[in-house]
Formats: sequence, structure tokens, C-alpha cells
Amino acid sequence: MFEFSAMTDKKIIIAIDGHSSCGKSTVAKQLAQQLGYIYIDTGAMYRVVTLVALRNGWIVDKVPDVKKVVAGIKDIRISFRWDEKLGKNTTFLNGENVEEEIRRLEVSENVSPISTIAEVRKEMVKQQRENGKNKGIVMDGRDIGTVVFPDAELKIFMTASPEIRAQRRFDELKAKGIEVSFEEILANVERRDKIDSSRAASPLKQANDALILDNSNLTREEQLEWAMNKVKEIIEG
Ligand code: DC
Repeated sequence: MFEFSAMTDKKIIIAIDGHSSCGKSTVAKQLAQQLGYIYIDTGAMYRVVTLVALRNGWIVDKVPDVKKVVAGIKDIRISFRWDEKLGKNTTFLNGENVEEEIRRLEVSENVSPISTIAEVRKEMVKQQRENGKNKGIVMDGRDIGTVVFPDAELKIFMTASPEIRAQRRFDELKAKGIEVSFEEILANVERRDKIDSSRAASPLKQANDALILDNSNLTREEQLEWAMNKVKEIIEG
């Protein structure tokens, strides 16, 4: 479908930001595979910090003990490995595979307060920039085009309606055998939108030079085609 042999040498940074569950990681993974780029899921990084905080009892009634979390981040090593068998990225915490655990609802419900802690963001951004220093990377999150890589060659801001996003997450969890109600998921999506967009530290907002991709009514193939055409325009100049 695409011809990329001509675009070989020029490597760029692709920053994908947007609301939760709007398919950022799907597009990011598709692009990384097509282009042979590294894919970094920055949401997974904030989820790992949240998991560590939950395991250690640093979050009580959804309120994190900021001092304990900040003191603890120095011991957190996050890495990603491509799982050939599953055909997906897997997240590791100090060498332990935590991919399943970080996707649980308990983590989703506590991750926003953790991601508002300025020191946590500072450390994550440092690690993210380290990963992108050689370009050839697709990174998705909330502040990639605005804070992490403001000079990224391609910035995409993704969105879809809250109901469509909740339905996608509901289907995903159901397929994994995790029992949750649609209403619970929708409430979580809306609550996270609100926190992510209104927090003081690096709120979710569209970079001035980002291209908007509303995929409410697009298939996976259509959204990949849209994104690949943008890449092509940039690489071929
Ligand atoms: O993309 P996700 O739903 O897995 O992200 C989990 C949370 O992490 C989300 O509620 C917002 C936060 N996050 C962030 O603050 N900055 C990022 N770059 C990525 C995610």
C-alpha cells in the first residue's frame, strides 16, 4: 500500500497527543511498524509509577503522598520490549513484566493524580527525551508535542467522542475477561479528560502546529493511511 524505500534515511520524531482511549497507541504502533521506528507509550510510564505507588501504599483514597512518590521514583527503571509472539509492546518495571497490571482499572483510576506531580513529570520527560535523541521514534501521550519534543517534525492531536472512547476501552477489557460496567468506564474517561486538561503541570492541549485527527468515524486502515501520508509529505519535503 505504501512505498517507503525512498524515504529511508531521513528519520523524524512523531509526537502523538490526545485524550485517553482515543486510539493514540494504535496509530503510534502502526506507524512505528511501517517505518521501523521505536515506539514509546508514555502513558505506560505514568502507569508504572502509579503501580509502584499503589503497591507501596503511597496512595490513600486516590490521594498520593507526594513526598513518598518523589523519593521513590529514583528506584523505578522503565523499559519496553517488543513481544514478537503477541505482536505488541510490553512494559517492564525493573525487569518485571507489568504490562497486564498497569492496564487494570485501579491503576487507571489513580494515574491522573500521579501524573500531576511536577517532579514525576520532570523525571519521565528526561527519560523520554533520552529515548528520542536519535530520532526515528513515535511517542504518544499528552504533552509530547508541547513539552517533550516541541520541535517534533510531525505532531498529531487525536480525538474521538467520550462515548466512542469508553466503548473501545470497554470492549478491550471485556475481551480480556475483565468485568466492568460501561458507565464506570465512561465516568473514568470523562474524569480523566477533566484532570488531564485542567492540571497545572503540562496540561493536555493541542500544540499550535499539531494536525488534528478525529477518528470517531475512521477505520484503523483509514487513520494509518492519513498519518502515513503526512509522514510522506514531511520526509519527501
Ligand atoms: O494514555 P494512557 O491512558 O495510558 O495514560 C495514562 C495517564 O497518564 C493519563 O490519565 C494521563 C497521563 N499521561 C500524562 O500525563 N502525560 C503523558 N505524556 C502520558 C500520559
